[in-house]
Amino acid sequence: MTKPAFSIIGCGTVGTCLADLLHRLGYPAAGLASRTRASAEKTAAVVGAGQVFDKVEDAALAGDMVFITTTDDAIGPVCQDISSKKGFKNGAVVLHCSGALSSELLASARDCGAYAGSMHPLQSFAAAKPGVNLFEGILVSVEGDAPARDMARQAAEDLGAMCAQVDTNSKMLYHAAAVAASNYLVALLNLAFELNQGAGIEPKESLAGLMPLIQGTLKNIEVQGIPNALTGPIARGDVGIVRRHVEEIRAKTPQMLALYQTLGAQTVDIALAKGSIDEKRADELKAVLK
Ligand SMILES: NC(=O)c1ccc[n+]([C@@H]2O[C@H](COP(=O)([O-])OP(=O)(O)OC[C@H]3O[C@@H](n4cnc5c(N)ncnc54)[C@H](OP(=O)(O)O)[C@@H]3O)[C@@H](O)[C@H]2O)c1
Repeated sequence: MTKPAFSIIGCGTVGTCLADLLHRLGYPAAGLASRTRASAEKTAAVVGAGQVFDKVEDAALAGDMVFITTTDDAIGPVCQDISSKKGFKNGAVVLHCSGALSSELLASARDCGAYAGSMHPLQSFAAAKPGVNLFEGILVSVEGDAPARDMARQAAEDLGAMCAQVDTNSKMLYHAAAVAASNYLVALLNLAFELNQGAGIEPKESLAGLMPLIQGTLKNIEVQGIPNALTGPIARGDVGIVRRHVEEIRAKTPQMLALYQTLGAQTVDIALAKGSIDEKRADELKAVLK
């Protein structure tokens, strides 16, 4: 199957990474443009192909698949600017890579007969390293007009990623999930470190000591899933132990109590779903964690 020629508008980390990898996969590199010509030239040098344009609309017009990989704030205005200059081909697919924002940001592209979509890689790109495929094995979410979704899905699969369709109106929720899994994991471990510090164990020792427990738990989640991976006093229904946790935290690290109780109450629901405690025990635990 012929691969669509791609253009990149916004030659930063993700734009350069996509351009490099897609080109290696046989996607023809068409137009490259950025806020500064220097960035587009840098990307062209990494890829070894593609034509650098000074005007974003000229770069966009050269592509059948146009990635607007600017900063999130610039995506809408850049798309509108290109659309107003009839800078998208009729039938082209226009994509952005933001996790929080939807394809509706690219609605103006439809005035040119183009299709709007988003294609978000659930990955952290710190710097574009030529030939390093950070898409391999990750989740790429897609949404938008059907032709845009199809093209984005094909590109994601060619890049070795798993693809999932996300609701256009729920991208913020999807983005919040990523924040919970990544950023809140940091906050969660900070809770553990603070509790350990209250018990006289320094953060450095905490990290080394808790790491095997964390990794074991992650493995259990991977193999058994939630709720079956849940162990510990709440899963066992040990109300007395949980009550003493609350008392100790209130006495020694009170600033962490609300978070401990909120997570505890959520954990009770998981234990109920696992079937390791009954409703009566769940109510007792929740009363302690209130
Ligand atoms: N980095 C990540 O980990 C990651 C992960 C998933 C998704 N994303 C998404 O990927 C997109 C790009 O992120 P990034 O990290 O690659 O950002 P970045 O490295 O800051 O690159 C953004 C690029 O956009 C260009 N730009 C800004 N305003 C522009 C405008 N008005 N017209 C043309 N070009 C403009 C800048 O050009 P100049 O260099 O010429 O100034 C810059 O090179 C964002 O939507 C982001 O949410 C990023």
